Amino acid sequence: MERTFAIIKPDAVERKLAGQILARIEENGFTIAGMKKIQLTRKQAEGFYCVHSERPFFNDLCAFMSRSPVIVLCLEKENAIADWRTLMGATNPANAEPGTIRKDFAVNIEENSSHGSDAPETAAFEIPYFFSALELV
Ligand code: RTP
Ligand code: MG
Repeated sequence: MERTFAIIKPDAVERKLAGQILARIEENGFTIAGMKKIQLTRKQAEGFYCVHSERPFFNDLCAFMSRSPVIVLCLEKENAIADWRTLMGATNPANAEPGTIRKDFAVNIEENSSHGSDAPETAAFEIPYFFSALELV
């Protein structure tokens, strides 16, 4: 079993798409090991996305991610990291495969409805950024 970290981003929570995204997660064989609704502070968003701090979109991204609540998730499945990224689709919804979350729900390349860890080392940083061991079952 592998664990990955996921976020239902502000654009999706605002448009009441969380239920539909959670249904896709369960329909695709993921177990929800941890889940909570929180609103990130600007500083928490900056810490989470620190690998992108030199990118031109960093300020916009941190403003977006902290503007309203998100749902953070720890998902469990064999091959969870790659499979969740496949289910999300490409970063830019214009390039995302049909049937993916970003193709069906994203607004644009920034407001793209979901986040997923991109490697085991990333998941190992991101999961404990939001969850204590006792919150994962
Ligand atoms: P994520 O980390 O959120 O799962 O997305 P990702 O791996 O597919 O994309 P990444 O390159 O890590 O970018 C992180 C998030 O930054 C926003 N973004 N905006 N305006 C832009 O050109 C741009 N590029 C990226 C997106 O919200 C992206 O998911
Ligand atoms: Mg990424």
